[in-house]
Amino acid sequence: MTWHPRQLAQQTGRTFVVTGANSGIGLETARDLVSRGATVVMAVRDVDRGEQARAQLSGPGTAVVAELDLADLDSVATFAKRFAESDDSLNALVCNAGVMGGPLALTAQGFERQMGTNHLGHAALVTALWPQLHAAGGRVVLVSSIAARGGRLSATTTRDQLVAPSPYIGQVVYSSSKQANLLFAQELHRRAGKAGSPVSVVACHPGVSQSELFARQLRERRLGVLVPVAKAVSKLALQSSEAGALPTLRALDHSTPSGAFVGPSALGQFRGKPELLDVYRTGSDPATAERLWVLTEEILGTPLPV
Ligand SMILES: NC(=O)c1ccc[n+]([C@@H]2O[C@H](COP(=O)([O-])OP(=O)(O)OC[C@H]3O[C@@H](n4cnc5c(N)ncnc54)[C@H](OP(=O)(O)O)[C@@H]3O)[C@@H](O)[C@H]2O)c1
Repeated sequence: MTWHPRQLAQQTGRTFVVTGANSGIGLETARDLVSRGATVVMAVRDVDRGEQARAQLSGPGTAVVAELDLADLDSVATFAKRFAESDDSLNALVCNAGVMGGPLALTAQGFERQMGTNHLGHAALVTALWPQLHAAGGRVVLVSSIAARGGRLSATTTRDQLVAPSPYIGQVVYSSSKQANLLFAQELHRRAGKAGSPVSVVACHPGVSQSELFARQLRERRLGVLVPVAKAVSKLALQSSEAGALPTLRALDHSTPSGAFVGPSALGQFRGKPELLDVYRTGSDPATAERLWVLTEEILGTPLPV
C-alpha cells in the first residue's frame, strides 16, 4: 500500500537518536523529525560538522549534537551514559550511520572498520540504550542496503571472518555488514517479541541516493579529484537524499509493524516510494541470524538486550 510522509504524525514531545545525522540520509531524517516537533539527538563523530548540520535545521522541534564514534566501543558507552543522565526514555533509535568500502582499516578495538561501525557499533548502542527504549516502548530502525543481497554471512561464519576478513574485499565486507543489519533486525524483533518487550524493530534501505557515501570512498582511495564528477553524475542518476530518507521515516511510523523491511521497489529497488518489502534471502535465515547474534555477544563481551 502506498505510504505518504504526511501519514507520519507530529512528533512533539518525542525523542529520537539518529546516528550519522550530520550528512546524507541521516541529516534528512533529522530535518524531517525536527520539522514535526521532535527532539533529535544528532549522534555524530565530528561535533563541529554536527553543529554545522544542526544550523541547517529549523523547528518547531529541537536538535542537539552529541559525540558518538561507532568505531570505538568506549565512545558508544560514553554516549549512552550521557544520554541516560539526561533522558529516561527514548522513542526511537535510528541506526543510520555507515561507512562503505575503502582500504582496510580497523576500529579502536581492532575490528575491521565496516563491520565494526555498521554492525558492531550499532549493536552495542542498541544494547546500551535498551533501558530507555524499553521505558518508552520505543523503536529501533536499522538502515541496511540493497547491497545486503550480496552479503556472505552464514550459519558457519567464524569470528575472524566477521572482524578480520581475509582476503579483505571492501565491497564484499560492506555487503556483509549491511546483511548483518538485516539479520540483527530480524533476530532482535524475534527475541523482543518472545520476551514480551514493548520495543519494536524495523529495517529499511534507502535505494541508491545522493549522499557523501560514494564521495568519501573516492577520497579514501586518494581519488578526491573525481568527487565533483561523481557528484554531478549522482545528481543526474540517483534519487535525492530526501527521497532516500523516506524509507527511514516510514520505518518510524507506527503503522509499520515490528519485523518489517521498508524500501523503494522501483528499478530493482534503486528508487521510488517506500514500500513494505520481503526481507532478502541473505537477511532472513534464522540460523545465520542466531550465529551472528552469538558472535556479536562474544565479540562485544556483553549479552545483547533480549
Ligand atoms: N546513499 C545510498 O545510496 C545508500 C544506499 C544503501 C544504504 N545506504 C546506507 O545509508 C546510511 C546513511 O548513509 P548515507 O548514504 O547518508 O552516507 P553519508 O552521507 O556518508 O552518511 C554516513 C554518515 O555516517 C557517519 N559515520 C561514518 N562512520 C561513523 C562512525 N564511526 N561513527 C559515527 N558516525 C559515522 C558519517 O559521519 P562523517 O560525516 O563524520 O563521516 C555520516 O554522518 C548508511 O548506513 C549507508 O550504508 C546508503
